[in-house]
Amino acid sequence: MKTKASAPGKVILFGEHFVVYGVKAILCAIDKRITVTAEDIPERKISIKSNIGELEYPTSRPTSEIKSPLKPFYYLANKMLEKHKQHQGIKIVVESEIPTGVGLGSSSACCVAAAAAITRLFEKNSKEQILELAIEAEKTIFENTSGADCTVCTFGGLIEYDKENGFTQIDSKSGFHLVIANSNIEHSTDTVVASVKQFKNKNEEIFAEMCKKESELINRAMRGLKQNDLETLGKCMHDNQEFLERIGISNQKLRDMVKVAENTSFGAKITGAGGGGCIIALTDESNLERAMSELREKKYECFSVKIDFKGLDTF
Ligand code: MEV
Repeated sequence: MKTKASAPGKVILFGEHFVVYGVKAILCAIDKRITVTAEDIPERKISIKSNIGELEYPTSRPTSEIKSPLKPFYYLANKMLEKHKQHQGIKIVVESEIPTGVGLGSSSACCVAAAAAITRLFEKNSKEQILELAIEAEKTIFENTSGADCTVCTFGGLIEYDKENGFTQIDSKSGFHLVIANSNIEHSTDTVVASVKQFKNKNEEIFAEMCKKESELINRAMRGLKQNDLETLGKCMHDNQEFLERIGISNQKLRDMVKVAENTSFGAKITGAGGGGCIIALTDESNLERAMSELREKKYECFSVKIDFKGLDTF
C-alpha cells in the first residue's frame, strides 16, 4: 500500500520566540508545500529519501541512536510498526518546495505530512490526532517547540496560537501579499531558541516586560488584521523587529534586508527563529513589484507568497 500527504510551510507574522514563553503568536500558512509518500515494504527497515539527504536503518532502533535531521520520520515509522506489531518496513519519500533551515516551517511541514502519510498505512486519524503525533515527532529534534508551527501547517490559513489555549483561525479578509527574502544563512531553531533562553535567564525582568509589550503588540496586530489595516500591521512588524533585535536573534545581513524592504513595503521583520533564515515584508498590489525589485537590485533572493487555506491534505 502507498499513501501520500502534503502540508504547507509557514511564516510567523508576529510573536516568534515569545510564544515559547506563553505569549500569543500570529502565523500564516504559505502556498509552498512538502509532500510525503509512505509505502510498506517486506524488508524490516525504514528508508527515507529527501532533498536534505537519505537515511536507512533496520526497524526497532532506539530513536536516541539516530543522529540525523531525518529522525522524526524514523520515529513516526517505527512507532506505527511497533503499535501495530508489524514485522515489515516502510519506505518514505519526501518532495519539498520549501527551502530548509530558513524559518519557513520545512521541518514542521515534514512532521505533519509524514505523520499523516505514515499513520494512514495503518489507521485513520483526525487532523487533531495527526497534529499531536507531528509535535511528538518534532520534539525528537527540537525538544522545546511551542507547537505553533506544526499547528498552522496542519490547519492552514491565518491563526492565532498560544501554548495554553491552542489555536483559533483568524477570519480576515486581508488582501495582503508577503514578500519573503532569504538571507541564505541556515540556522538551527533549537540553538537560537536556547540563546533566547539564556538572554531571558540573564534579564528576567526586562524579558517579562518585553513579553507584556509583545502581547499588547499582538492585540494591536489582531485589530489591524480584522480591519485590513496594512499601515497598522506594518508598524506592528517594525516594532516586533525591534524586540527581535533586542533578544539577539538578528544580524547585520538581516538588518540590511529589513531596511531595504521597509523602504517599499508597509513593514518588514525577521520571521521564525532568526539567527539567519528569512525576513518577510508586508505589501499589497500597489507595492509588491517594487518591493521585490528593490530587494533583487541589492542581490537578495526573494519571492512572494499567498496564504494557504488548505493546510494538511491527504490523498
Ligand atoms: C520557530 O519557527 C518559532 C519559534 O518561536 C520556536 C517555536 O515556536 O517553537 C522560534
